[in-house]
Amino acid sequence: MAAAWVMALDFDPPKVAVVIDANTYTRRLIEASGEFALNIPCRAIAGKVLKAGSASGRDVDKFAHAGLGKFPSLQIGAPLVEGCVAWLECRVLPRPDNEKRHDLFLAEVVAAQADDRVFREGRWLLADESLRTLHYFGGGDFATTGDIFKAS
Ligand SMILES: Cc1cc2nc3c(=O)[nH]c(=O)nc-3n(C[C@H](O)[C@H](O)[C@H](O)COP(=O)(O)O)c2cc1C
Repeated sequence: MAAAWVMALDFDPPKVAVVIDANTYTRRLIEASGEFALNIPCRAIAGKVLKAGSASGRDVDKFAHAGLGKFPSLQIGAPLVEGCVAWLECRVLPRPDNEKRHDLFLAEVVAAQADDRVFREGRWLLADESLRTLHYFGGGDFATTGDIFKAS
């Protein structure tokens, strides 16, 4: 699925939080496996992201539907999505009350990879516009990350 409501939660161990609607097929897969991957998309595949977020894996093969490729992950069962610029493999830290009441899942990142044109030695490089990461504004509207500047 496409998921915009994702945030970092901690450094050590690295953790993330993500909101996964109870009616999605993705939610069923996460609850059954206790795992998921966060694939960080870029502008070049924004149309595919929208497609992935506009149909359900219950009804279609999402990879074929969105025209996305996949490759094996390092630590979890779910595959990773080609064309993204970073990949976080996650294991759910079960918090049943948060999951049921708020659709909120907390997870530990157990493996991470990045395209070194975009992220190298702990820093975002924001090179090519087509490789910039996406922010979703709803209604099919996206923005890319802007330029980095030093606060004075
Ligand atoms: C750009 C975008 C971002 C989205 N973000 C979220 C999100 O953060 N959480 C969520 O539950 N659904 C989100 N959605 C909706 C799901 O991606 C959508 O319901 C998807 O079709 C579910 O597929 P599934 O049934 O195969 O899991 C988003 C959709 C789009 C297009």
